[in-house]
Amino acid sequence: MSEQSITNFSMLDPRVSSDPYEFYALLQKECPVYEMPETGTFVITKYDDLRQVLKDFESFTSDVRIAARGPQANLQQSLLTEGGGWEHVPTLQRTDPPVHARYRKLVDRVFTIKRVREMTPHLDKVVNDLIDGFINTGECEFNDNFAMRMPGIIIAEQLGLSPDDVTTFKKWADAMLGAARAPVATEEEIRNNASIELEAQLFLADIFEDRRSAPRDDLMSALVHAHGDDEEPLNMHELQNLMHQLITGGFETTQSAINHGMWTLVRYPEIAQQLREDESLLKPFIEEVLRWESPVQFLARQAKKDVEISGTMIPAGSLVMVGYGPANRDEEKFGCPHQFDLERKGVGAHLAFGSGPHFCPGALLARQEMMSSFKYITQRMDNIQLAKPLPSPVHNFSMYFLPMNDFHIRFDKI
Ligand code: HEM
Repeated sequence: MSEQSITNFSMLDPRVSSDPYEFYALLQKECPVYEMPETGTFVITKYDDLRQVLKDFESFTSDVRIAARGPQANLQQSLLTEGGGWEHVPTLQRTDPPVHARYRKLVDRVFTIKRVREMTPHLDKVVNDLIDGFINTGECEFNDNFAMRMPGIIIAEQLGLSPDDVTTFKKWADAMLGAARAPVATEEEIRNNASIELEAQLFLADIFEDRRSAPRDDLMSALVHAHGDDEEPLNMHELQNLMHQLITGGFETTQSAINHGMWTLVRYPEIAQQLREDESLLKPFIEEVLRWESPVQFLARQAKKDVEISGTMIPAGSLVMVGYGPANRDEEKFGCPHQFDLERKGVGAHLAFGSGPHFCPGALLARQEMMSSFKYITQRMDNIQLAKPLPSPVHNFSMYFLPMNDFHIRFDKI
């Protein structure tokens, strides 16, 4: 890495957000808790600091609505309610213990090991059907034809949409994630996103009502009915908010993880061969992909009181970006962190799914989606290469994620 200074970088620069690792390494060395000059937001970059912040919900709340909410978010919320929809109320990810536990218990009943095991043959089928769609052509645009569709189809099915509706579903997810994609949106973009989100809410409300009286074996039914004798069922406001989190939490993240797994195979063909020869390597491969190019680079917290982290005072009320991406490249935790190492010891300690009370409830499902994907990709495709150079920068701008698109590959059919 070249000699650089922190002031040469801005997290709002699309080239930095697309390839942030040199900046992260500098921050970790010189300023592990960094106050962004552009926004005054504090950025946590070290592994141990991140674990401390994620655990300490007394000092760092997940309810960042007040700190994060500006005129843009206010407009979006009022457009939703004016249209007969539901504004965002804090549930699950936006709550702290003990309130958080109520929502978390319900969601954990849905994403059990048993349920993911039962889903596995279906995940395998979805993967193979998608590969069937392009295998004979010897090339494809991987993001649209596979990485987006695989998790999209699974969640769409769980929501009661047809798998053919995955593009509608993608449109909803993109609108819901609008603010994360473009922190400074025009009024027209906000209005457009709000009207798409409203369409999603009204559709989901009908499905929830339907599943209340006629449960099926899907996620919506499980959420409507996931309560014990002594517990109040979730109301529509809460259900809508949970759906928002499941859609935004489960789609773009898994899509990104699958894209980055494929990009790894393109860069290291010998790893594709190793996976082909020894299926037991799939698990360490997936964990190292999640560590190396963490789909969620950052999320937000708000300091409830003055707190000192690694010698930096974070004043009460500050918005704090918790850095899963930088923590997973922390040299003090992972030796040679910028190297992809299939044999890395302790890779399972990565924080790609978070840590503490908000640890990702979809981790089992996401891991199985990746297992099924790379099992059949390596069995059915050989000699995978880029068919066109990747765009520059490789990733679309995002404050939180690492979204890839325009990912054209070619390969030999096995
Ligand atoms: C590779 C894929 C995925 C990654 C990298 C990922 C990452 C994360 C991370 C880092 C968190 C912690 C948030 C925090 O600290 O505030 C989280 C929470 C969450 N994730 Fe995932 N996720 C993935 C897949 C999924 C899937 C498939 C679903 C559901 C279908 C899902 C649903 C959620 C929900 C609902 C939360 C909030 C949990 C809570 O606040 O208790 N995620 N995820």
